[in-house]
Amino acid sequence: MPLKTRVLGDSFACEVVGLHLWETQDDRIIKELRALWVLHPVLVFRRQALSENELADFSARFGPLERTVRSDWASPARPEVTLISNLKDAQGRPIGGLGDGEIQWHSDQSYMMQPATGAMLCAVELPPEGGTTSWVDLGAAYDGLSARLQRVVEDRYAIFSYAKRLAGYQGVDRVISADAQRKTPSVLHLLVHTHPVHGKKSLYLDSTTTIGVDGMDQDSGKALLEELYEAATRPQFVYRHDWQIGDAVLWDNGLTMHRREPFDPEARRLMKRTTMLLPRDRHIVPDGRLAAAYPSDQPRSTIRASVNAMRQQPQAASPALAPVRSPLTAKPARR
Ligand code: SIN
Repeated sequence: MPLKTRVLGDSFACEVVGLHLWETQDDRIIKELRALWVLHPVLVFRRQALSENELADFSARFGPLERTVRSDWASPARPEVTLISNLKDAQGRPIGGLGDGEIQWHSDQSYMMQPATGAMLCAVELPPEGGTTSWVDLGAAYDGLSARLQRVVEDRYAIFSYAKRLAGYQGVDRVISADAQRKTPSVLHLLVHTHPVHGKKSLYLDSTTTIGVDGMDQDSGKALLEELYEAATRPQFVYRHDWQIGDAVLWDNGLTMHRREPFDPEARRLMKRTTMLLPRDRHIVPDGRLAAAYPSDQPRSTIRASVNAMRQQPQAASPALAPVRSPLTAKPARR
């Protein structure tokens, strides 16, 4: 039987109905999902209460799992699973990353030379309001550019800086290990890529890391990027996901950016994410190169100094953020 699917509103996102992702899926189903994912870069699966192993095992059917440079956000039980959460442990230390603030439009891993562009995010605990995640379709955004802008971005490389991404984070998320620093020099990626399956062009963007455009002076590069972000994030290209516990969203960072709205710091939110290295014959996987030192690339020492200063201030654990319970102890009824 073919997959049961439902396009969400008039967006590019598509819900896949009736699969039990905690079960091992037939190769036929995975093949159909791969084909569907090429057409719909955001796939939604509801009522999936997955253990970390189930999440990792399902994700790995689409490509090798990547352990990201944020080893400090990795689940102790299954390090290929990243914890995205504002929760803290009994000592008041964050159990994962990205806190409770707004996260601007970005593409995971864009700061890597060879980004692992597949991602899956599962909702385990949710705040009563806020924390909504939206995705933007960068293929449609490319089609919507004026002919002039399409000409300007063709064959152009943008400069992607992890230092810029870090500077936008909250609190201790700004601190990375020496190993993570070594792995994240600024890189160049083409602003436009062609999809290997259907041949359509798509933008590749990330407002939280791009600091300029190769071969353009700083002001002109920034002006071009601003124009692109404004054009690319128009509401008609956006799918906004209202999370329910048990939702699992699979997306392709080679064709989309996403953003998260802030939520009440006193509320609990726990999401679990995997990251997959996708095959180049089926997905846009940017193949970057090292960027030459760029004047506005903020030196890491500046970030580290400000974080050190911040760390010296006492940090009280909020009583509302109780020690983390083992998630997924109560699974929703399986149909
Ligand atoms: C992310 O940007 O990977 C996390 C998104 C979210 O917390 O909803």
